[in-house]
Amino acid sequence: MEVRSVSPEFVGEVHGLNLTKPISDSNFADIDTAIAHFGVLVFPGQDLSDAQQIAFSQRFGEIENAHGGNPTQKKKRLNAQINDVSNLNTDGTPLARDDRRRAFNLGNHLWHTDSSFRAVPAKYSLLSARRIPATGGNTEFADMRAAYDALDPAMKSQIEPLICEHSLLHSRARLGFTKWTAEEIEMMKPVRQALVRQHPATGRKSIYISSHAGHVVGWTEAESKLFLSDLTEIATQRAFVYTHEWTVNDLVMWDNRCVLHRARSYEPGVVRDMRRTTIAGDEATVAQAA
Ligand code: OGA
Ligand code: MN
Repeated sequence: MEVRSVSPEFVGEVHGLNLTKPISDSNFADIDTAIAHFGVLVFPGQDLSDAQQIAFSQRFGEIENAHGGNPTQKKKRLNAQINDVSNLNTDGTPLARDDRRRAFNLGNHLWHTDSSFRAVPAKYSLLSARRIPATGGNTEFADMRAAYDALDPAMKSQIEPLICEHSLLHSRARLGFTKWTAEEIEMMKPVRQALVRQHPATGRKSIYISSHAGHVVGWTEAESKLFLSDLTEIATQRAFVYTHEWTVNDLVMWDNRCVLHRARSYEPGVVRDMRRTTIAGDEATVAQAA
């Protein structure tokens, strides 16, 4: 196994492993060290079945229960342990342009971190590219440790104690998606997250923002919205961003505690079949309101 550093420096490319087979403890330890150091790892050429993706993912911890992650998917195309981030209907054809499931999925095109709308947010995500469009459909990643390090000391002290309210309602409202049933609203109840996190393995601090963050607790709505959109702009400057241009059978893994990501657009009606396994986090970032 070899990990090559890609530019920018928070991305590593892993070669010499066959993830369709169980990996050794020593290879696993090397991946564990690499993901803590980099934040994003690319494993090219991994022709995985869903079961193989699940088995590899489970080496990193418990797979997050996907319930509540997409209230518009009443009937699932895939195994419950896989997040379907494709643009496909249960019959495998692309969703119609005006389908509300497609509208919901378009929320992934906003900068976010996975499951920040859960009280215990996700640790890692592993995204496998099964079918991709000929053009477009890249995924961008932004390093929130580098972004934090670059803040001036006054900004660092200002954000240190702040807590934000996160919900899927907030990220989807940004795209004008506001019509929900009472049951769906119940699934998207807001949670609180610290705005600054410290990584348990490296001790590095990072900015924990997301399109799911709608309010700064205790601030007015207008102040919150302006502040969060300014901070996102600062944190996602090109210097902190890696653009992944997918090849079929790439598996990309990232640490949601310190990296943001977003999908980039592609032609509607073209198949993009991407499947994500998500590793549950081990703690809340802040105590939840009663
Ligand atoms: C995800 C996600 C982006 C993409 O899987 O969590 O946001 O490019 N995906 O599909
Ligand atoms: Mn995501």
